[in-house]
Amino acid sequence: MEMKKIMIINGPNLNFLGIREKGIYGNDDYESICSYIKGKFSDKDVRIDILQSNSEGKLIDFLQSAYFRNFDGVVINPGAYTHYSYALFDAIKSISIPTVEVHLSNIHEREEFRKISVTAPACIAQIYGKGKDGYIEAIELLLKR
Ligand code: DQA
Repeated sequence: MEMKKIMIINGPNLNFLGIREKGIYGNDDYESICSYIKGKFSDKDVRIDILQSNSEGKLIDFLQSAYFRNFDGVVINPGAYTHYSYALFDAIKSISIPTVEVHLSNIHEREEFRKISVTAPACIAQIYGKGKDGYIEAIELLLKR
């Protein structure tokens, strides 16, 4: 069997982890979280690409590249776009690749506006409130399919 390919896409302000609101998002910086994720699967037969952008259009380009490059699964943390980007909803729907939405924080126990995800209905699951381990859970879910 060919090696599975999983794309992890992180949206706006996630490159600021370790700097932004540490009480909510923790002290780990973005790069260390990326290494943590890759390290967890280093002995597994899976290729993990991790991408980040602060721009909505770029996130859509990443999703479309997952389609053109035949990725098997996508993990996306759309950041605040989660709560209002119908363009991302459409992009996730368009690619027909199983996609899991991840949030580091518990979006259901914060401000009202964070409880709504317009992107989650395009995904097979939403994982929240588990910090960086949410990404691990999401990848495991995709690999099980
Ligand atoms: C987040 C939650 C969003 O509401 C917020 O805008 C983010 C990060 C999370 O990972 O908990 O930027 O997606």
